[in-house]
Parts: sequence; C-alpha cells; structure tokens
Amino acid sequence: MSQNKSLLQLRGIAKIFSKGTIDEVTALDNIKLDVNAEDYITIIGSNGAGKTTLLNVIGGVFPPERGGKVIISGNDITGFSEYKHATYVGRVYQDPHIGTAAKMTVEENLAMAVLRGQPRGLRPATNKQRRELFRSALAPLSLGLEDRLNAQVGTLSSGQRQAVALVMATISKPALLLLDEHTANLDPRTAQLVLDLTEVIVQREKMTTIMVTHNMELALRYGNRLIMMHEGKIVVDLNQKQRAGLTIDDLIAAFEQASGRRFIEDNILLRR
Ligand SMILES: Nc1ncnc2c1ncn2[C@@H]1O[C@H](COP(=O)(O)OP(=O)(O)O)[C@@H](O)[C@H]1O
Ligand SMILES: [Mg+2]
Repeated sequence: MSQNKSLLQLRGIAKIFSKGTIDEVTALDNIKLDVNAEDYITIIGSNGAGKTTLLNVIGGVFPPERGGKVIISGNDITGFSEYKHATYVGRVYQDPHIGTAAKMTVEENLAMAVLRGQPRGLRPATNKQRRELFRSALAPLSLGLEDRLNAQVGTLSSGQRQAVALVMATISKPALLLLDEHTANLDPRTAQLVLDLTEVIVQREKMTTIMVTHNMELALRYGNRLIMMHEGKIVVDLNQKQRAGLTIDDLIAAFEQASGRRFIEDNILLRR
C-alpha cells in the first residue's frame, strides 16, 4: 500500500444549492484536492466561484453531495458534525464578529476555543495553566493582549479582534487552518498587521493553511501554492516553483487560458 502523505484529501466534492429549482446552482463541481502537511495555499477566484463553500465543506458546516469524501490526517470525516470537524480545523472569517463573542472577555473567548477544539484529556486543567497558555499564545503578537485577558472583546479594535480570532482558531493546534478573506473588512494598515500576525502564527506552529483572498497580490506574496477557482472548479493550481516570479498579469493569463473566459468579462474582483 502506498504511504499517504496528504494532510487533507478531498475527493469528488460537489455542492448543489436549491437543487431541482430554478435557482439551482452548482457551487462546487467535483473537486479533487490533496493538501500536504505544512502547505500554505492561497485561493483566489471571482465572486461566487465556490471558495467559501469549499471551506464550509472542509469545516463541516454541511456535507458534500453523496459520494464526496473529506479525509483529514487519514480520518474520513465526511458527514461528521461541525463540532467534530473543529478538532481538526480552525477557521477565521471575514467578519471579526463571527469569530469572536463581543460580550465575553478575551479569556472567555479563548477558553471557548480550547473547549471546542481539544479532546478532553488534552485541555489545561487549572485556570492558572489556562491563563499561562493564553498569555503565551497572545504575547508573540506584540499587541499587549496578554495583559488584557479580562477585557471584553467588543472593546477591542477590529484588528485586535481579528488577532484574537486567529489565536482562537489556532490555540488547539488544529491540523488545518482556514482563512476566508479574513483581512478583507479591515483598513489597509490593520489588514497588513493581521496578515503579519497570520504569518507569525503559521510559521511558528508550522500550520497547514488555506487562505482565501480576493487580492491577487496577496495570493502571490503569501504561501507556497496558489489555486484559482472558477464556477466551482479548481482551474489553476500552481506549486511554489511554478508560482515563483509570476506577476498579476501572468495570473490573469493563466486564468483566461484555464477558464476559457476573458478576465475582463468575469466581473472580477481579483484586484484590490
Ligand atoms: N447557503 C447557500 N444557499 C444558496 N446558494 C448558496 C449558498 N452559499 C453559496 N451559494 C451560492 O453558491 C455559489 C458559490 O458561493 P460562495 O462559495 O460563497 O462563493 P465565493 O466564496 O467564491 O464568493 C454562489 O453562486 C452562491 O450564490
Ligand atoms: Mg466567499
């Protein structure tokens, strides 16, 4: 039997919304994807290409259509609950409000994340141990959040809040980190800060990561592999070597060749 190195395997992943109605849409069309451990994949694609739906299937928000398979670290978790997926997958959303609870403190938010993500035996036993874990996770971000464990998350800036969301998504060291345009709602300076924090966490934890972005420049700058989606399919998949030295214009050309569509006609938001 061949040794399987892939951390995430997707097989025959399809998702059809509003099946059998006039609104029927094939959001994912027979996706096959192998993600290696420590891959950092950036995904770009126009609005409605299926990027969020793909992350939703990986995160267990809903199962793929029948026959599809989601395998993480060799475990077939297809159809498992979102709760169960959370032991394998951490996620940060575009909207900081989705990832964090405003009325709860930084510490309470992180405690929730630990409960969600970790098998019981591995959870820190005492409050003191827990606080130490939170401080050591927050300190490397250099935002002073380690001294604000009792602050309500709603009182933090959007950048700090997204930083807390990042720590929440990664504190249990899930096998896979999913970022869905997690800097799109931030002003450019804050977005850069959160991208830098992402880099710190991904590198430190050697996290296998999938980052969806609308921004081609970011897709080229971060990660080691670039995927373009179009109409529910992966149309371009470039490894580090293939991606090296590419410009935005090269990407546009690759997209046009693979999708058979003029970029300009695609109502695209791939640029900033
Ligand atoms: N919950 C849903 N119900 C119905 N249609 C949906 C739902 N989620 C996504 N879609 C549709 O599926 C397609 C892919 O959406 P999405 O994955 O959000 O795209 P992206 O994140 O690439 O912009 C779009 O046509 C969208 O309208
Ligand atoms: Mg989306």
